[in-house]
Amino acid sequence: MLQLMPADLAPIDPTAISTVLAPDFGAARTLPAEAYLDDAVLRWEQRHIFDASWICVGRSDLVPEAGSQRAIDVGGRGVLLVRADDGELAAFHNTCRHRGHELLPVGECRRKRAIACPYHAWVYGLDGELVRASRFADRPDFDRADFPLLSIPAEEWNGWIFVNASGDGPPLSTWLGDLGTHIGAWEPERMALGERHEYVVAANWKLILENFVECYHCPSIHPELCRVSDPESGSEIFDVTGMWIGGPMALRDNAETQSLSGEGDGVPFRKLSAQQQREVRYFNVFPNLLISPHPDYLMTHRLVPLTPTSTHVECAWFFPPEVTAQEGFDPSFAVDFWDRTNYQDFSACESVMRGMHSPGYRPGPFDDREVIVHSMQVLIARTYLEGRIPPPVLAEPAPA
Ligand code: FES
Repeated sequence: MLQLMPADLAPIDPTAISTVLAPDFGAARTLPAEAYLDDAVLRWEQRHIFDASWICVGRSDLVPEAGSQRAIDVGGRGVLLVRADDGELAAFHNTCRHRGHELLPVGECRRKRAIACPYHAWVYGLDGELVRASRFADRPDFDRADFPLLSIPAEEWNGWIFVNASGDGPPLSTWLGDLGTHIGAWEPERMALGERHEYVVAANWKLILENFVECYHCPSIHPELCRVSDPESGSEIFDVTGMWIGGPMALRDNAETQSLSGEGDGVPFRKLSAQQQREVRYFNVFPNLLISPHPDYLMTHRLVPLTPTSTHVECAWFFPPEVTAQEGFDPSFAVDFWDRTNYQDFSACESVMRGMHSPGYRPGPFDDREVIVHSMQVLIARTYLEGRIPPPVLAEPAPA
């Protein structure tokens, strides 16, 4: 039987984690502060959670056409996304096989028929094969086939790009399970970007996810949201078949969508059922993508941890393409609502983060409206203790 080496386990006191795993939901307690504050814990999470997962790095338009090449940072590693001639996506370590120069500076994009290293001009095909190595051509001890770019698993799903940096994760289809059946009616592969905002939140990435998956806090800090949605209507949780969790929340009778006035643009996604036009769905795709389909727009939050106490959040609003193509298209009804709601959420997360610095912080109990928070913390705690990500488990809430 395979024995885990101590180095595989998280650098955190196991006894401090064990209360999260109490078999009785009522006795369970939240994660200790060190899980949110410690540099070493975040470094461990980067390798054992983020690298081991399928991470969403953005939309397919990062590399829109054949020959497109874009260098991105994935957990401190340079990754080169490439669109091949046949339209297929590929990803490689952004490291030349000669002496390691970056093939493209992180953040830059170009379109060329080959991948050229700027240092000594080695040239690779879009498939990563080395096609030219200046001055090596006549060397009998050199075979170009021995020096291809090293690939990283990358796949597209409904217009999003996912990367598995460790290369040893399960197939993306296993990771996402049947999530596609819950958002397919929104046709995410054809939707068009309306607006994108970037935030740097002074809070640990887990706090932002935890805040997203419960509405216990909604009556306290989201008066605008509660005017258009009943926070008590969000108790249903979809059956989970992958590394995601989610459920619907009903719109109030006076609201067409989630906006400050309750009015939308009047153009729901074309394939929604009558029920889907009266609800908002929330999906947490572990570990870094939140998807919120509304009747007339779909919003995403994409998280990138920066430090234990800060997280970059990209919030994007998408619409049916026939809507964004209209003259005078204005996404502000959706953007203004969520900009305000994001501010309320992020302020709360930042306050929790400050509270965790206090010597008076102690792990607390879960309300039965925090079942998903509990399940996420169980997932994290088991990963800390086992050194690998286990399948998610939902606990039964305490009897009322
Ligand atoms: Fe790329 Fe030398 S490091 S060609």
